Amino acid sequence: MTDERNPRDAAAPEPQTLADLDRLIAAAEPMVPGGTRAVLGEGPVGAPIAFVGEQPGDQEDLQGRPFVGPAGKLLDRALADAHIDRAAIYVTNAVKHFKFARSGKRRIHQKPTAGEVKRYRWWLMKELDLVRPRLVVALGATAVLALTGKALPIARARGEARFDGHRGYVTVHPSYLLRLKGEDEKRRAYAAFLADLKRVRTLVEDVPGGTNPVALARGLG
Ligand code: URA
Repeated sequence: MTDERNPRDAAAPEPQTLADLDRLIAAAEPMVPGGTRAVLGEGPVGAPIAFVGEQPGDQEDLQGRPFVGPAGKLLDRALADAHIDRAAIYVTNAVKHFKFARSGKRRIHQKPTAGEVKRYRWWLMKELDLVRPRLVVALGATAVLALTGKALPIARARGEARFDGHRGYVTVHPSYLLRLKGEDEKRRAYAAFLADLKRVRTLVEDVPGGTNPVALARGLG
């Protein structure tokens, strides 16, 4: 996929650090309808794993942080169950603004179009180049589209992948688990998600000659 730089910030010098990029994103106009503030990625530069979601939701937009609403709480639970320390990893979104439509007082999430995802891609790929994770995890189809340029069903793409120069892994978005109705179905889907996160942890722990990410392994018996 060719990356087109957001024409609105293309005149600015290319960001050399994550802080430069964050400033650029924060100052830019949203490229989706409804978008207000940019919700930036969160976590340390050099984090072993970067998780990429779709876009901030209502709570993320209000609090200015990624994955802090219901899907974020489920992600936190699964990370804890997989013994991955959220403070040690990087969490971001393919689209940096909350796309929504108003319905009375409610702000209803709208899925970004492929064109909108593409417009945000330059920022995302620059962000990953600057964070330099060992593994990039795509949470759901929008993240896969952003990272590969292809609309792939998660059932087919699930598992190890490559995203441009980055070693990758594809799994479901936690909001998919929240939408499931039956208790059995929910339990099975959560177990499969957890198995993915445990696999992700092993993939970054097994780097030949790499150092063990102590923070990730914290709590392991
Ligand atoms: N869903 C996402 O994809 N990202 C968030 O930050 C929150 C919900």
